[in-house]
Amino acid sequence: MNRNVDEVTAPLPELNPMNWPRRFATRTTQMKRSTIRELLKLTAQPDMISFAGGLPAPELFPIAQVQAATNTILNRHGAQALQYGETEGLAELRDWIARQSSRPGLPLTRSNVGIVSGAQQALDLIGRVLLNEGDKVIVENPTYIALLSAWRPLGIEFLPAPCDARGICVEDLEPLLRQRPKLLYTVPNFQNPQGTTLSAERRARLVEMLRQHDVGLVEDDPYHELRYQGDSLPSLLELDARLASPGGPENNVIYVGTFSKVLAPGLRVGWVVAPEEVVDKLVQAKQASDLHTSTLSQHIIYELVRNHLLEEQIPLLRHAYRERRDAMLSALEKHFPRGTTWTKPDGGMFLMVTLPTEINATDLLQRALQQKVAFVPGEAFHLHGQGQNTLRLNFSNAAPDKIEAGIRRLGSLLDKPV
Ligand SMILES: Cc1ncc(COP(=O)(O)O)c(C=O)c1O
Repeated sequence: MNRNVDEVTAPLPELNPMNWPRRFATRTTQMKRSTIRELLKLTAQPDMISFAGGLPAPELFPIAQVQAATNTILNRHGAQALQYGETEGLAELRDWIARQSSRPGLPLTRSNVGIVSGAQQALDLIGRVLLNEGDKVIVENPTYIALLSAWRPLGIEFLPAPCDARGICVEDLEPLLRQRPKLLYTVPNFQNPQGTTLSAERRARLVEMLRQHDVGLVEDDPYHELRYQGDSLPSLLELDARLASPGGPENNVIYVGTFSKVLAPGLRVGWVVAPEEVVDKLVQAKQASDLHTSTLSQHIIYELVRNHLLEEQIPLLRHAYRERRDAMLSALEKHFPRGTTWTKPDGGMFLMVTLPTEINATDLLQRALQQKVAFVPGEAFHLHGQGQNTLRLNFSNAAPDKIEAGIRRLGSLLDKPV
């Protein structure tokens, strides 16, 4: 190329910051900041009673145990615990997860397990590996907000499925399945945002229907261990495996788990359980995303679980969160006016309130923040602008007396709607 010298040596035009938005990729029009993460900034004020985030109780984090495990790891493994690691994850942690998740008829090995940087990364990678523009995905309506954020930029179409107190209404899925979706995404236990749990009968029917229609199932299960009443139900992964006949199709479920809710979300360690070829493709996507999950975090978690910390930690969490859930349910009973209803979760961290249709939860939030109470308006979890009169309340992050005070303040605002 024959460029003239002046052209080459001429000063570059000053970088105009206004140029950057013009350069953003088209898919970024589908990206926006999460309402919840923005709200969390406001709710950090010390006198705020926040039902907004999905935060575990910080006073229950096993700080001393994490500290001791970190020392042990650094003494035992030294530099190796600070070195780059395999994308698949720490072998001994994958083995541990495979052992924990195996069931009769569902023998799992390390090759079925991939470690990720939190369940959220698993969802992001699953979307990137499986979804093309124009693909359809069935989701509960309302559903987990950050799943919508992760998959919306992929240009897919969400098919909202109706839900009730027993989870996704499997009886009503047939018309959606006829639209030939590629995947169904569900949070079967103590769903975020509603707190509802998919019933045993519906679980069995769902896995069967999805196999019949050749629709893959993504089971996102972060709250599994946080059950405060009733019996634990089999996972969709396990139920689906019971349908597999020798020589028949492999498992139809990608299961996503996390240590965020039972140990500490700041460690950012989650996992997927899936057929080997799916794990392998997710690993390829992960390599491009972050190379691997924090080596140190994985070592710490493995040290904690092999020393049976979860057997201590989970009962502690169940006890505290059950008390908080009960405090919230009885405060709602006492302070919320007639015409409001709410879900009654058997576990997890959230419940959802439905206000009379004329009350807009986003307007209510503005007044609530002035009274130093925060929650998340339910609209953002819904598709097609529904849920304007709903709110998600988190009960794991505040002590029972704070919960009572916060619900009382909210109730008094509802008594005087503007
Ligand atoms: C349903 C659901 N999936 C995934 C996540 C993300 O979890 P992690 O901290 O493991 O990324 C959350 C966290 O709130 C959640 O509620």
